Amino acid sequence: MLIELPRRTEIYGSVKIHELQRVLKFDSGGFDNPRSCDIPLEDIKRILKRFAIIVPIKDESLHLLDGVLRSIPFDCTVIVVSNSAREPQDMYRMEKDMITNIHTLTQQEFFIIHQKDPEVGFAFHNLNYDCILDKYRLVRDGKSEGMIIGMLLAKSLGKEYIGFVDADNYVPGSVREYVMDYAAGFCMSKTPYTMVRLHWRYKPKVVEDRLYFKKWGRVSRTTNKYLNLLLSISTGFETGVVITGNAGEHALTTNLADIMEYSTGYSVEPYHFVYLFDNFGMKAEKIIPVDAFNVGIEIFQIETLNPHLHEEKGEEHINNMLLGSLSTIYHSKLCDEYVMSEVLNDLVDILHSWKIPPQNTIMAPIGGIDAAKFADILLNRSETFVQLRQGSTVKGMIEEEYLDNNSFRVVQ
Ligand code: GDD
Repeated sequence: MLIELPRRTEIYGSVKIHELQRVLKFDSGGFDNPRSCDIPLEDIKRILKRFAIIVPIKDESLHLLDGVLRSIPFDCTVIVVSNSAREPQDMYRMEKDMITNIHTLTQQEFFIIHQKDPEVGFAFHNLNYDCILDKYRLVRDGKSEGMIIGMLLAKSLGKEYIGFVDADNYVPGSVREYVMDYAAGFCMSKTPYTMVRLHWRYKPKVVEDRLYFKKWGRVSRTTNKYLNLLLSISTGFETGVVITGNAGEHALTTNLADIMEYSTGYSVEPYHFVYLFDNFGMKAEKIIPVDAFNVGIEIFQIETLNPHLHEEKGEEHINNMLLGSLSTIYHSKLCDEYVMSEVLNDLVDILHSWKIPPQNTIMAPIGGIDAAKFADILLNRSETFVQLRQGSTVKGMIEEEYLDNNSFRVVQ
């Protein structure tokens, strides 16, 4: 792969944020060029073998999930964490059957679990991680909560890299690119504490019967503005380096995953930055993970060659995402009165009866959880946990057929 070198890197305490890097070519010829980095396919493959890709899913079309799963490179282990409905139709069973069939045909390694499985809740409680549970000791709803389940399973497999792709992507080829871009980022990194965040070249929308290749959405534009403002007021130098504040498509080393805190639901991605600024930035008060502080944390922001085409979930969904994102900014240690008042202005139509944005639930780092024990509990007790390893086949599933969005038939 041929990828642009970052033109600048902002250094904020122990955190290095590289400016946008464009993918120049998926294939490259091994020619040196002072402005780009040529990453051989063998190097990327070496990463893929140590990589788990987590697909969080909640009630998405099986057609879309199917395309996403088939396009994840074979060498990666895929972990699907579903929070899909169990009734009146058991969407989870349909997802499981479909994935089992893909595994039978391809022999790729898959793991599947349902977020609301009581045994998942039991495992977290048993391992003293109640911050992810609701009052019934079930894992709360939320994408971030699903991501944490996936990360623990990835850790139990000894994976060194963990990435995320959404299940509602219309273009399977773009998902393949995302994973290759993550691996390219890891090839360029110089520290075991690395995160790779993707910026889509375009996010096309239909406007008056035509495709309009939009670059920025309302949430990402606003979140990026405030993350940059936090940095600017803290250093005294204006910056626009952050362009991936809401990057749902991102990956990180397991070392970094272990020391991060996680914000609930969709606020998870902007909170990555807020957490790193607050705890590893220039004004960090207590430095706990000394190693990360000394060797530093690198953030790569890579612009994909593919556009991102996904399901649109409506205005209320966008507003909730904006509220969750800006709440992380508002409650950041770096946020001053000026930024607070700007955030309140931007949220004026969304805040309803709240005077200030409600604080998001924050979940503790997962580094202290015994991931092997977590997986062991699921293996022994869970009814929804399925492991599909290489060499295992499930008889009778040869061909599948989708009937509509919600139904799926196995043709034997
Ligand atoms: N396991 C699980 N649990 N998955 C969930 C849940 C949940 O409670 N809620 C949503 N998901 C899954 C969806 O099915 C989808 O695969 C993925 O998480 C993203 O959710 P969407 O609802 O499709 O989010 P979006 O497309 O509006 O936003 C995405 O992009 C944003 C950046 O533009 C998300 O990835 C955001 O986190 C991201 O900030």
